[in-house]
Amino acid sequence: MSEKPKFYLTTPIYYPSDKLHIGHAYCTVATDTIARYKRLQGYDVMFLTGTDEHGQKIEDKAKAAGVTPKEFVDNIVEGPRGVKDLWKLMNISNDRFIRTTDGYHVKSIQRIFKRMYDNGDIYKGKYVGKYCTPCESFWTESQLVDGRCPDCGREVQDAQEEAYFFRLSKYAGRIQRLLEDTDFLEPRSRVHEMVNNFIKPGLEDLCVSRTSFTWGVPVDFDPGHVVYVWIDALSNYITALGYGNDQYHDFDRFWPADVHIVGKEIVRFHSIIWPAMLMSLDLPLPKKVFGYGWLLLSGGKMSKSKGNVVDPYILSEMFGVDALRFFLMRTFPFGSDGNFSNELLIQTINTDLANDLGNLVSRTTAMVGKYFGGQLPAGCGATGEEKDLAARAAAPETIGMLTAAVGPEKFDAELISLAAGLRGRYQQAMDAYAPHKALEEVFALVQRANKYIDENAPWTLAKEMEANGPRLAHMMYNLLEATRICGILLTPFMPGSCDKLFDQIGACKDCRTWDSAGVWGSLSTTAAVTKGDNLFPRVDMDKALEALDQAEEAARKAQLPPVEVEPQLSEQVDFETFCKCDFRAVKVKDCQPVKKSNKLLRFTLDDGTGADRQILSGIAMYYKPEELIGKTLVAIVNLPPRKMMGLESNGMLISAVHTEHGEEKLHLIMVDDAIPAGAKLC
Ligand code: MSP
Repeated sequence: MSEKPKFYLTTPIYYPSDKLHIGHAYCTVATDTIARYKRLQGYDVMFLTGTDEHGQKIEDKAKAAGVTPKEFVDNIVEGPRGVKDLWKLMNISNDRFIRTTDGYHVKSIQRIFKRMYDNGDIYKGKYVGKYCTPCESFWTESQLVDGRCPDCGREVQDAQEEAYFFRLSKYAGRIQRLLEDTDFLEPRSRVHEMVNNFIKPGLEDLCVSRTSFTWGVPVDFDPGHVVYVWIDALSNYITALGYGNDQYHDFDRFWPADVHIVGKEIVRFHSIIWPAMLMSLDLPLPKKVFGYGWLLLSGGKMSKSKGNVVDPYILSEMFGVDALRFFLMRTFPFGSDGNFSNELLIQTINTDLANDLGNLVSRTTAMVGKYFGGQLPAGCGATGEEKDLAARAAAPETIGMLTAAVGPEKFDAELISLAAGLRGRYQQAMDAYAPHKALEEVFALVQRANKYIDENAPWTLAKEMEANGPRLAHMMYNLLEATRICGILLTPFMPGSCDKLFDQIGACKDCRTWDSAGVWGSLSTTAAVTKGDNLFPRVDMDKALEALDQAEEAARKAQLPPVEVEPQLSEQVDFETFCKCDFRAVKVKDCQPVKKSNKLLRFTLDDGTGADRQILSGIAMYYKPEELIGKTLVAIVNLPPRKMMGLESNGMLISAVHTEHGEEKLHLIMVDDAIPAGAKLC
């Protein structure tokens, strides 16, 4: 028995500093689609993903949240609606999940670091430069852009400390040749950027340890130093196979990786630092790094701090996981940036899935039900001539359509030749990491099949079943076959929906395979066809957009801390100054809204002096005037008078304020009604 070919592919491991957003889901779905495609082709696949859990950013966030860093990352990775839950929901078929806090990984990192130290590639020196905390990146003065981090544009801090360095400079020549002379890095446009921006200006040695924080892998031979997060993170691709540990034993089987799929901003780490590390460890290099583009929102990057992240949970729950997976792969050319919008998502669902694919399946299955009771007659399948045609159309050299026939057979010939050549065209696109192009090919067939229905007008043929029955059955068979081939090739993108599609057209296990996608006529002519539920219901754009807004707002609020209060002032006030403030109990005699203001209330107060005191207060959104009449409140009465909306205010009412789920709340301070008006508060 011959051994299956191997394929090892990875996603970047995610920082669990915040919940993941649609950009992260994009990368994982793309990698999952490729993994499923390779499995469909019969490869023995290893698909790795995970989380990159060390570093100062996580340490800081945990501190702010009042938990340990491990508790913090545990919650985002393993907790409800965390990273693992999201991948499960999105039907991600990773074979392994690595956390850089896993004990075996930590041990491997220490061994990797020691090995590079022992072979002279890591040495001790002094780090003087700039550090960008959010990016966990060191920069030299010359790399900064306008004095700021070249990756994120934020401010950088001066940093100077004793540190270990990796001799990256030693590998500059080999890396330049790797990038320029091979297909190691794709798309090719990224090669230019790496060579011109990073290698040609002179590759400097890389600072690979830190002493200013502790949340990292300790350098075991020099306590106080922790390993730089990128050395720790990049190594995951080999430690997860068992390199330097006994947890796994797959290194010889799967290394070198076939492809690391990474976002464009981390191409630098994967195409310069990672190969240099592997060269230092004397290990083979991965075969490819593919740097895909970003999903942008209104033209800009999504980020938690900008508050514009899109939640993949909400989208999956609202539109279905497969619709979301499909949209991500169909709409954005994988190597370039794309502009995400909810409108575009809904449009794609309606056009491609509901109108084109959904309609093809439901029309075909409904007609087989209506005209043939759900089972076509035996003998209506592919003719010998059609099989020949399909074989020629599937041959690699025949990309064009073969349309020699005339009459209704012309339509058959067009449909069959397009369907038979589809697998080859799809494969070309998928192998070039262009899933969007593969889908374009599939949808060309979906659209051709829908047109085929209109061209043949089966409803007219069905009026004279006796004469037209065989032609109608053959036509239905062709539609089922075209649908089946589309279903197979769509499986990596929408696994759940394609299973349902196969059940509806009666495709047996053997005619759901990669091999059978290349053989026209694989479906049994007498398969049981059932019109099931609509695979992709149409989405009402306006209603869905409104529901999305509400769901996003609710999720945003749920993530905010339940109660927030302003931090206390550190600046002290001397006692005498404080005593100058005259706080008094006041009773509300009258309270009225101020005309033309939706904020102000006008209070008439008894302050114990015998004369009425008027105070204006901007609290109309918190209280109805009538509910305050008779209450005893607290006012500071010796503030200078102030005019608001043409009215004079003499003092200020004292309230307590805080924020609840992001919303400001206010409570007037009300005291015991037994306290007389004018009583001094001290
Ligand atoms: N932890 C590092 C990767 C270490 S790999 C050894 C990291 N993590 S990350 O969580 O910040 O990003 C993970 C991936 O998500 C990156 O490839 C990044 O490009 C990608 N994306 C983050 N935002 C994105 C978009 N808006 N669009 C597409 N992908 C984006 O980097």
